[in-house]
Amino acid sequence: MPLRELSPGRFTADFNRRPFAIKHDLAQHPAFALERLVELARKLPADAVEYNAGDLPLTQDPKSTPRTGLSVEETIQRITECKSWMVLKRVEVDPTYKQALDDCLDQIEPLAPGMRTRRAFIFISSPGSVTPYHIDHEYNFLLQIRGTKQMTIFDPAVLPEEAIERFYRGEHRNLVFDQSLADKAQTFDLSPGDGVHVPVNAPHYVLNGPAASVSFSITFRTPEGDRRSAVYQVNDRLRRAGLAPRPVGKTPLVDRAKYLGYALYARAQKRLGRG
Ligand SMILES: [Fe+2]
Repeated sequence: MPLRELSPGRFTADFNRRPFAIKHDLAQHPAFALERLVELARKLPADAVEYNAGDLPLTQDPKSTPRTGLSVEETIQRITECKSWMVLKRVEVDPTYKQALDDCLDQIEPLAPGMRTRRAFIFISSPGSVTPYHIDHEYNFLLQIRGTKQMTIFDPAVLPEEAIERFYRGEHRNLVFDQSLADKAQTFDLSPGDGVHVPVNAPHYVLNGPAASVSFSITFRTPEGDRRSAVYQVNDRLRRAGLAPRPVGKTPLVDRAKYLGYALYARAQKRLGRG
């Protein structure tokens, strides 16, 4: 039972509506020692390891993110001084990390009906590095293991529908940061043992503290969330066809009709072998 201060009342009121803090007991877990993370990174497929320079602006064009010239192993071993940012993706392929993920999400599952597609990520980053302003697809709890970071999470309402639609069309997660929205955010100071829930579509950025940082991100999806993603894709197509689609969540019946249309189309494509 690694998660603490996970109150059912708080969860029901705030899950996927606004960010909230939790606590956890994973900070001393031996699987997060740097030498273990080097071993893990060696076993992961190349596309599950993303890394680059860590001293980035809040708005980072993904096409020009600077590289470091270091190897994966060097980056982890020298994380204190190599000014880098790294994410190890889908680490649940390793049984140790799958166990840690399941131990956490088994505690959340009774509160999140239909939980599926459990995935875990490990972020390893140098002192002072920046994760640019972006959004993610999954429901996320970020658990701080080592070092400190400041996570600033915005209300999803700050994003125009078009920006969210582009993301669901498959564009990169990074967004253009608008300083005038600064008061629409909440900042969480995370030390080892702290965690925070990040709602889907809640844009966020992260500033590392003065020490190397390791964070464990536990994520999942739900049928309801996947239906909403599908409606964003439908709206993207409608908008590109010159229409002005009703925003997701405004009219549940319209959303439902769009989702049914999407599901029928997807099934037909699958039958035609294009799914
Ligand atoms: Fe994120």
